[in-house]
Amino acid sequence: MTPEQIDLVQRTWRAVLPVGDTAAELFYGKLFSLDPEVRRLFKNDMVDQGRNLTAMISVAVGALAKPERIRLAVRQLGERHAAYGVERRHFELVGVALIWTLEKCLGEAFTPDVKDAWRATYVFLTEAMLIGA
Ligand code: HEM
Repeated sequence: MTPEQIDLVQRTWRAVLPVGDTAAELFYGKLFSLDPEVRRLFKNDMVDQGRNLTAMISVAVGALAKPERIRLAVRQLGERHAAYGVERRHFELVGVALIWTLEKCLGEAFTPDVKDAWRATYVFLTEAMLIGA
């Protein structure tokens, strides 16, 4: 990712964080509408789960300029996801739900460049998680 893309992702994420719980609710609503079967995989409280997710995205977004710092942690996250029953095809659904949620939260600030930068972020995370799985 270019330094400009990293900056775009970090700045837009800071705008989403204050509405993190709402963003997480929108995200899971979208994910479960794309595939209702996915809901079965989640056993814990969804508000807690949303906070786990936003916290992990914050760590990842903060480390984009130095991805080697988090690569191992993200691989281990991927390993745990395999144990949760998460499969490769689910990552595509989560990617769609994530981009959709960011668009909802950011409105006009979600420009094509911002979208591309987030796609690149998600590809990095997915690839590291799938290596771990
Ligand atoms: C960028 C990608 C993702 C990130 C950053 C992420 C982050 C997290 C985090 C931080 C947790 C908390 C538990 C732990 O640390 O092991 C978690 C749990 C979980 N994630 Fe993800 N996740 C991602 C992708 C996915 C995908 C693609 C699915 C598939 C539907 C998924 C389904 C789950 C499930 C089922 C749990 C366990 C929840 C429970 O036991 O109720 N995640 N995720």
